[in-house]
Amino acid sequence: MSDTNNQGSQSQHIHYHDPNAKFDPPERLIKNAHIKSFTQYQQMYEQSINDPELFWSQIAEQFHWESQSSGQFLDYNFDVRKGPIFIKWMEGARTNISFNMLDRNVEKGLGDKVAFYWEGNDPGDHGKITYQELLEKVCMFSNVLKGLGIKKGNRVAIYMPMIVELVICMLACARIGAVHSIVFAGFSAESLSDRILDANCCAIATADGVWRGSKLLNLKSIVDKALEICKEKGKPVATCIVVRHMSVLSEEASSDSNNVGEAPDESPVGKRPCKKLKINWQPGRDHWWSDLMKTADKNCDPEWVDAEDPLFMLYTSGSTGKPKGVLHTVAGYMLYAAATTKYVFDLQPDDIYWCTADIGWITGHTYVCYGPLGNGVSGIIFEGTPFYPDAGRFWAVIEKYKVTKFYTAPTAIRSLMKFEDNFVTKYNRSSLRILGTVGEPINPEAWLWYHRVVGNSECAIVDTFWQTETGGHVITPLPAATKTKPGSATFPFFGIVPAILSDEGKEITGPGEGYLVFKQPWPGIMRTVFGNHERFEITYFKKFPGYYTTGDGAKRDEEGYLWITGRIDDMVNVSGHLLSTAEVESALQEHDAVSEAASVSHPHHIKGECIYCFVTLKEASHLGELFNDELVKELTAAVRQKIGPFAQPDFIQNAPALPKTRSGKIMRRILRKIAVNDRDIGDTSTLADETVIDTLFKLRPKDA
Ligand code: PRX
Repeated sequence: MSDTNNQGSQSQHIHYHDPNAKFDPPERLIKNAHIKSFTQYQQMYEQSINDPELFWSQIAEQFHWESQSSGQFLDYNFDVRKGPIFIKWMEGARTNISFNMLDRNVEKGLGDKVAFYWEGNDPGDHGKITYQELLEKVCMFSNVLKGLGIKKGNRVAIYMPMIVELVICMLACARIGAVHSIVFAGFSAESLSDRILDANCCAIATADGVWRGSKLLNLKSIVDKALEICKEKGKPVATCIVVRHMSVLSEEASSDSNNVGEAPDESPVGKRPCKKLKINWQPGRDHWWSDLMKTADKNCDPEWVDAEDPLFMLYTSGSTGKPKGVLHTVAGYMLYAAATTKYVFDLQPDDIYWCTADIGWITGHTYVCYGPLGNGVSGIIFEGTPFYPDAGRFWAVIEKYKVTKFYTAPTAIRSLMKFEDNFVTKYNRSSLRILGTVGEPINPEAWLWYHRVVGNSECAIVDTFWQTETGGHVITPLPAATKTKPGSATFPFFGIVPAILSDEGKEITGPGEGYLVFKQPWPGIMRTVFGNHERFEITYFKKFPGYYTTGDGAKRDEEGYLWITGRIDDMVNVSGHLLSTAEVESALQEHDAVSEAASVSHPHHIKGECIYCFVTLKEASHLGELFNDELVKELTAAVRQKIGPFAQPDFIQNAPALPKTRSGKIMRRILRKIAVNDRDIGDTSTLADETVIDTLFKLRPKDA
């Protein structure tokens, strides 16, 4: 790694087309920063990789351990040739993450500090909860869960909007040693049921509904459908807990006297909109959150669990189409979430920290919930969208709470920069110090707009590369230490040893491009795919034995900066959400008219990437052979229904045949070229029938 400190370039006005243009860390951050220079970063980095035990045990000292381990601090095997893959940090030590997030902070005198501000979908709908109050609610809900028979190791599904009860539910699971499995409340009933079944969840927590922008979502009805599917498949879920977020019960609801009528608003924060929403009720299975909380005891001793006990699972798309339950364990995840949040956002006691991600994704797990709480800062839980009531909402919220550290996705930045700068500049953003991005590569134009317009050229930008699997940031700048280049995630975080490999698996040591892999474990790395360890080994460790393979490509420039080039497998990153092409194809194939489908990634100016589908119709389809707008609508709806609205393809084209090799393998490389209308398709000698290509070019949709 090169020391960039001597290559000064006062860069605020540098033209962004120069990929070596560098932005200095803002002077005003340096004095109080945890890491004040690149040299300090390098020293700590060297220590973190040469003596991980020393490095991470110092970080572990900030936390409470009910008992220490007498065994090895770190034990692992990263090489499939030597036996099964395993990773264990601090095994044998006992702790509880909810205790560390809550009780420990209260003991340190932070009881009256705001843990979360809650900002609802409607401006003016807001509230807050202190660390002491959060602890009390978490204890109460832990007792509720125990009262319902939920025990250590049981899986609890959570399908909730961005409300404080979501965090309460996560931490209550953690407090009693149950494993939470959060499903983003934008997934369809079918996707939800797949995840509940795979994890064998015994309970689910949800809310009646939620406004997302100006759209009303009836979450309970989606959960009802999902639970119906689980029942049909012989695995009924015994318990469904419903937060009254907005509804008054309809007449169609059950007449069970305990569950009818106005439940008192037990909401821990703010007022809630009370909008009519019809929901159904299944007595015995369904319980109002507020009813259960009424009698719950306010004290609950934490369950002391092993460092390597599971904390949560979170599904991520897999290239075979079946989502993988990524499993994270307690201690390693806690250390890594807390350390990355502290250093990457240079957390200070008076920070107001806001990560806009939904908790349904890993970014929300680590950087809305566990990371900020682990550092005792005040965070924001935002239920709304960037465009409601207008495109100034983010900046209005920043002004309202005097946000100091802000973290969002490139797709949001790209969609907001289309509006006049005035949407941003009319709000006071002088509190801002650090601006983060995550989820996909950020293009330099978006980076520069974020820096100049949002940050008034005075903030550090941290482009953080990581994955559901990594638990936290793995390649990222440190705001007061790293000179940044727009579009580069820069250098590895502590404990991360990246390498770039060629197709043959050779390490490319200098400048070059290839597969991004990691050579040794860090505390936050996933431990397994729930219920399928073999899939874990095959997906991440088989292609290049001895390395964790990210599935992303990267290049290293002359100065050692890392640039993520995007997925190199069959995954599409739509607005920062990973989807597998196989998942989309199987949704299309379920349609009666379809005989075969292939989908590929296509560049999109806002979403980064979008999905482009090729569909071959069945000759004998009852819908006839005609490929028309109606069919495209139906196919689009099929994907939305099967996976969720965010997976909707942008383009679906008629493909009388697909380009295949003689052995019948679809040549996606060629489909990607057709999707972008690039006739330079390279070698076609392995194609079974070359004429297919011309036809497909002719049939491209006009707007593609
Ligand atoms: O392709 C990379 C991209 O998002 C993938 C991980 O997606 P997921 O597990 O859903 O987690 C998203 C939030 C961490 C990666 O394999 N990705 C994430 N961050 C970046 C990125 N690509 C480029 N630059 C980033 N900063």
